[in-house]
Amino acid sequence: NERPPARRPVLAVDQGTSGTKALVVCPERGVIGSGTAAVRPRFLPGGLVEADPAELLSSVLDAGRQALADAGEPVAAVGLANQGETVLAWDPDSGEPLTQALVWQDRRAATVCEELGEHATELQQLTGLPLDPYFAAPKMAWIRRHLTRRGVVTTSDAWLVHRLTGAYVTDAATAGRTQLLDLDDVTWSPRALEIYGLTEERLPTVVDAAGHVGTTTAFGPEIPLTGLLVDQQAALLAQDVTEPGSAKCTYGTGAFLLAQTGARPRRGDSGLVSCVAWRLDGKSSYCLDGQVYTVASAVRWLTDLGVITGAEDLDPVGSAVPDSGGVTFVPALAGLAAPWWRGDLRGSLTGLGLDTTAGHLVRALCEGIAAQVVCLADAVAADLGEPLTSLRVDGGLTRSALLMQTQADLLQLPVEVAALPDATALGAAAVARVGLDPGLPLADAIPAWRPAAVYAPRIGADEAAERLAGFRSAVTALLARTPS
Ligand code: G3P
Repeated sequence: NERPPARRPVLAVDQGTSGTKALVVCPERGVIGSGTAAVRPRFLPGGLVEADPAELLSSVLDAGRQALADAGEPVAAVGLANQGETVLAWDPDSGEPLTQALVWQDRRAATVCEELGEHATELQQLTGLPLDPYFAAPKMAWIRRHLTRRGVVTTSDAWLVHRLTGAYVTDAATAGRTQLLDLDDVTWSPRALEIYGLTEERLPTVVDAAGHVGTTTAFGPEIPLTGLLVDQQAALLAQDVTEPGSAKCTYGTGAFLLAQTGARPRRGDSGLVSCVAWRLDGKSSYCLDGQVYTVASAVRWLTDLGVITGAEDLDPVGSAVPDSGGVTFVPALAGLAAPWWRGDLRGSLTGLGLDTTAGHLVRALCEGIAAQVVCLADAVAADLGEPLTSLRVDGGLTRSALLMQTQADLLQLPVEVAALPDATALGAAAVARVGLDPGLPLADAIPAWRPAAVYAPRIGADEAAERLAGFRSAVTALLARTPS
C-alpha cells in the first residue's frame, strides 16, 4: 500500500453495552466496511446488571473480523472505544476473567457509596465525579470486598486491550470514569485510592487517546493498536463539539449529553460530571457530562412488555395519536443520574386512563427521554454561563423522527442528527489515525460535521415550558421519596 499511514483505512471498534460495532474507516472514502455483534447483559433482581467478559471479547473479535472482511482491504491501525464504567477482576498472567463484568448500570455498589458518604465532597473535588455506583471505583471496591482479592480489577477496556495486545493500559478519559483519577493532574489520585481502600491495587498505566499501545493479531493480520477512548468522549470528538455553547447527545442504551469545556476542568454546581474529554500529546481537554441511564433500555422494556415490537415501532405507533394523552413517564428505570443523582429511585408512569393506548405510552416515553435531556442541557448552560445554541446527536435512536422532533420541541433548539449514527466508532477511528501519524492535527482526523437532518422546534416556548413543567413535577414527586 503506497499511501502514507494516516491516509490508509483504520479499523474502529466500539465495544458498547448491548453490542459491539466495528467500522473500517478510510480517510478518503469514508466507511468501507462494518460489522456488529450483540452482547446480552443479564438484568438481575436488585438492580444488578452483568455481562459475560468472554462475550465482550468475542463480540469485539467477531465485529472486527466482519468489518475487515466487508472492507476487503488491509487496515493500518485499530482504535477501540469502550463502555467506560464497566468493571471486572482478571488474572494478569493468564488474562482469564475472575468475575463477571459489572456493567455501568449495575447498582450493587450503592452500599459502598453509602459507606463513603462522608467523603463525597472531597471525592467530587478531587475527581470531578459525584459519589455514585455508576462509576467504576465503587464497583472495584465492591468486587474486592465481596468477590475476589485475586488478580487486578479494572475497567473493561484494560482487560480487552490486554487480551488484544498484552499491554496493561487505560486511556485518560476512561480512567476519568473511575473516581480514582485526579481531575487536574490526570494521574491516579493516592487520596481517592485511599478512600476506596484500593491503595494496594496494580492499576493500568494511564495513556493518551492516541499512541502506539501494542500490536494485535486477534483480527487476523498483525495490526497496531493506536487509539483508545471512552465511548461518549469518542462521540464528542467525532461530532466536532469543540466550541463552548455546543453539545452532543448520544442516544444509545442510555443517553449521554457532553459539552466540551476546553483545557481546564469546569467544576460546576449543577450536578453534572466534570471529566477528561481526551488527553492527546500529554495535554488534556475537559468536558461536562450528564446521563439518562435508560433510553434504548427503556425502549427494550416497552418491547418486552409487548407494547411495541421494537425501536422501529416508535414512530408508527406514536404517530397514531397527537399527544401523550395526559400520560407522564419519568423513564428512570435504573434510577436518576445527573443532575439529581438518585440511583435508588425507579421510574414513574402517571396519568393512565382506560383510554390510554400504546401510542400514548410511546409518546410519553419519547417526551420523558427528551425532557430529561433538556434538564441536562439546562445544567450545562448554567455551568457554562451561557445557553446552548444547538444540539448534535447520534446513536441508534436518532432514527426515530418522533423522538428527535420531541427533543427539538422541548429543547427549543435545532437538533442536528449525525450523518452516521456510529459517531463513537468514528471517534475511535480518529484517535487511531492520530496515533498512527502523530503529526496529524486532530481536526484533520475527524470528518467535517454535516448533519443528515436538522429538526427545528415546531412548538412555541410556552407550550414547551408547559410540557416540561409536567415532567419536572413528576420528577419532584419522585425525588420526594425517601432514599431506599
Ligand atoms: O457510561 C456508559 C455509556 O458510555 C455506555 O454507552 O453506548 O454502551 O450505551 P452505550
